[in-house]
Amino acid sequence: MAILTVASFKGGPGKTTLCQVIAACCAKDELKIAVIDADPTKAMSTWHAETYEGRPFECFAETSERAIADLAISLDERCDLVVIDTAGFGNLAGAVAMTVADNILVPLTAGAADLNQAEETIKQAKGLAAAARRKIEVRAVMNRLSLNTKLTRHAIRELQEAGIPTLQSSISHRTAFGELSYSGMLPAKGAAAEEVEAFIAELKQIGWVPHKSLHASREQGL
Ligand SMILES: Nc1ncnc2c1ncn2[C@@H]1O[C@H](COP(=O)(O)OP(=O)(O)O)[C@@H](O)[C@H]1O
Ligand SMILES: [Mg+2]
Repeated sequence: MAILTVASFKGGPGKTTLCQVIAACCAKDELKIAVIDADPTKAMSTWHAETYEGRPFECFAETSERAIADLAISLDERCDLVVIDTAGFGNLAGAVAMTVADNILVPLTAGAADLNQAEETIKQAKGLAAAARRKIEVRAVMNRLSLNTKLTRHAIRELQEAGIPTLQSSISHRTAFGELSYSGMLPAKGAAAEEVEAFIAELKQIGWVPHKSLHASREQGL
């Protein structure tokens, strides 16, 4: 159905955290989702194997630039969504993961350096899409926001001025998200849960995450 790659040049803006959120939410919604962990640190696949406690989804650790595209395409044929978590630098595996994607999500935090990395990642994605002669959508998403601080307001203004397409929804800096890497469960209620819901709803609204599972109904013969 669709391949969504989460990418950034810099480490640390929240790629793995957002992959965890998207995967766990889609699994909860009974979508057939597969994740490819293309980061040699294997944070996503280790979390999936050792910590995650929600409804099951498939996760593959694959860091070879030669294997990622084939794996993504074959998973795409039998899944509602394939999400690829990438390493925080512009390596070849990351470039392949961006080129095979239908959509690229670029998390950034509210700092000048991050705005710069988002611009660089977007330029890279555009170049790869041109080389592959296909359309790849790119959007930034703000993560680790401290809402209503001057820095946040400044970052949002800068994004608009730089013409970087950015999701309306954002994810705040919260213990619940910081703890996700060792808790294995998404925040179930409160402001953090509401943010996750709005984030996934927007991804569905722009068509990056399917509303319902095509594969589940196919498998049930409907
Ligand atoms: N919204 C957030 N609130 C609090 N901590 C966060 C948030 N997003 C990420 N973190 C923390 O920031 C660190 C880097 O996030 P991570 O998702 O691993 O980034 P990346 O995969 O881009 O390197 C991790 O320790 C993670 O738990
Ligand atoms: Mg990561």
